[in-house]
Amino acid sequence: MRKPLMAGNWKMNKTLTESIPLIKELINLVGTYQDTETVICPPFTSLWVARELIQDTNILLGAQNLYFQKEGAYTGEISARMLQNIGCSYVILGHSERRGYFQESSAEVAQKVQEALIFNLKPIICVGEKLREREAGKAQDIVREETEAIFTVLKPAEVDRVVFAYEPIWAIGTGKAATPRDANEMIQYLRSLLVHKYGERVAEDTRILYGGSVNPENIKALMAESDIDGALVGGASLQAESFARIVKFKEKE
Ligand code: PGA
Repeated sequence: MRKPLMAGNWKMNKTLTESIPLIKELINLVGTYQDTETVICPPFTSLWVARELIQDTNILLGAQNLYFQKEGAYTGEISARMLQNIGCSYVILGHSERRGYFQESSAEVAQKVQEALIFNLKPIICVGEKLREREAGKAQDIVREETEAIFTVLKPAEVDRVVFAYEPIWAIGTGKAATPRDANEMIQYLRSLLVHKYGERVAEDTRILYGGSVNPENIKALMAESDIDGALVGGASLQAESFARIVKFKEKE
């Protein structure tokens, strides 16, 4: 059984001062909740305070990026070792905003995945197509290319430590989520790639999230699908109440 996972991607939002009340409120709402694995991914500047606040709760910490070198003269970058040391369990890698605005290639994302695994961070690996690629009937090709680039570095024994997130770019921050059916179809396709490369058992154990305009209203329908194991949540994770409702999608409201 794959335990549902809800990860809040705060992106470049919330100062240190603003992070504290948000985390405290979230702890009040879901700090002891066990049916969903709950992860918050604040900006680097709030990781330390988040780690201090969430200790002794069920909330886990994630980062939004890392650099694949161990240490050294890489001004402005953060290493996997630093993230491990500050208390991160997860790290989002290959988000479309990184691929788009910062020209991250799939090969670079793969290197980052490798580095994360060395330091026991669980990568949440994002893949997904642009609107024009979907319209051109190329959505699966894009997802396959981005996923297979990761397969080149991922050993069979490591697959249970990674999470994939299917995030169609046209659905991110637009309020237009993919339909549960379309999201599930692509996630099933991604799982079939895992079956092909690593076998049935590994593929069945690997969690694949959906991301793109997830909110408290659409989460139940998404989670009712066979292959959607959770969500990577942007905008709706910036308010404790809405993120908590997503985390508690199983509960009656
Ligand atoms: P959104 O972002 O929920 O604001 O659409 C999702 C993401 O980019 O991970």
